Amino acid sequence: MRKIWECVFDAFFGHPRGLPGRIGGAIMARGNADQERWADERLASPAGAHLLLVGHGPGIGLALAADRVGRTGHVVGVDPSATMRQLANAHCAEAIAAGVVEIRDGSAEHTGCADRSMDAMISVNNVMLWDRRAGLAEAHRVLRPGGRLAIAVHRHVLNTSPEQLADDVRAAGFVDVTLHVSPRRMNSPAVELLACRPTS
Ligand SMILES: C[S@@+](CC[C@H](N)C(=O)[O-])C[C@H]1O[C@@H](n2cnc3c(N)ncnc32)[C@H](O)[C@@H]1O
Repeated sequence: MRKIWECVFDAFFGHPRGLPGRIGGAIMARGNADQERWADERLASPAGAHLLLVGHGPGIGLALAADRVGRTGHVVGVDPSATMRQLANAHCAEAIAAGVVEIRDGSAEHTGCADRSMDAMISVNNVMLWDRRAGLAEAHRVLRPGGRLAIAVHRHVLNTSPEQLADDVRAAGFVDVTLHVSPRRMNSPAVELLACRPTS
């Protein structure tokens, strides 16, 4: 029974596909917007910044990032789900037409971005789906020195302890790691992590 439930959950949220994926996308767009806003507001990236969003899902965070960096900035979204890329393409159509947002097939482990090319990388509710060591190594590779990493995830879906996640981020070479686990009334606690690639 547990296996069946895991498969269903995966088709809605983990690796969204088909009709369940589209329904999952609508649920995520409503239910996870606060976490996307947290990442956007905490990073407060300047106009012209280059941002990478991994596992962007329906595209709420991509649209926030596009507004934040403006016409001189660039936002790359990578997600392995074709269904999510379709939803995000529709949600960000204007910013894509303006050349601000680019959406590609990819994952946290394989972003296709050049070394040291990004000012920040954002992951909302997908770090539990990564090969964590490979994903964090990729984040370190693509961020410029001083570039920042923001990870937000619901506590109940995180497949390790928040402290272990923070330790793994440090082990990947990040510094200034801050971790907050904030209780919420209507959901499990919000795990919020910020970190920085060292400047030298
Ligand atoms: C639960 S959804 C979260 C989407 C959105 N960020 C949100 O919070 O609403 C998880 C997303 O991660 C994507 N994903 C799955 N495996 C991934 C990986 N290895 N790296 C990056 N994203 C992945 C899925 O396709 C899906 O779009």
